[in-house]
Amino acid sequence: MEYTEKVMEHFLTPKNVGRLDDANAEAEIGNPACGDIIKLYLKLNEETGIIEDISFQTFGCGAAIATSSMTTEMAKGLTIEEALELTREQVADELGGLPANKMHCSNMAADALHKALKEYQEKHPKK
Ligand code: FES
Repeated sequence: MEYTEKVMEHFLTPKNVGRLDDANAEAEIGNPACGDIIKLYLKLNEETGIIEDISFQTFGCGAAIATSSMTTEMAKGLTIEEALELTREQVADELGGLPANKMHCSNMAADALHKALKEYQEKHPKK
């Protein structure tokens, strides 16, 4: 199984790790098959809907950590609508690709992002 340099970089020096104390949206996604868990924290600007800050805590394999790190980097600065369009495939592409079995197993952060944003939208319906 081959990992790209970019995957290794985000695994070894992940960006945006930890909990955001002032988060106003969060979500957790787990993979029951392997037990890995990704938790995302977001600080959304309530006026503009822009993701001002985002962080993660991932208990899992290197690929799960790398995809979480990359997802937070890609999502920062996007609006809710833009971030809802971010896909697992885009995250994998930005990492230079993932081994096929890891694509399905570990690439969960975009799903966690969508879950957090949808829950936020439900709690903050547009006026
Ligand atoms: Fe399944 Fe890491 S081994 S998400």
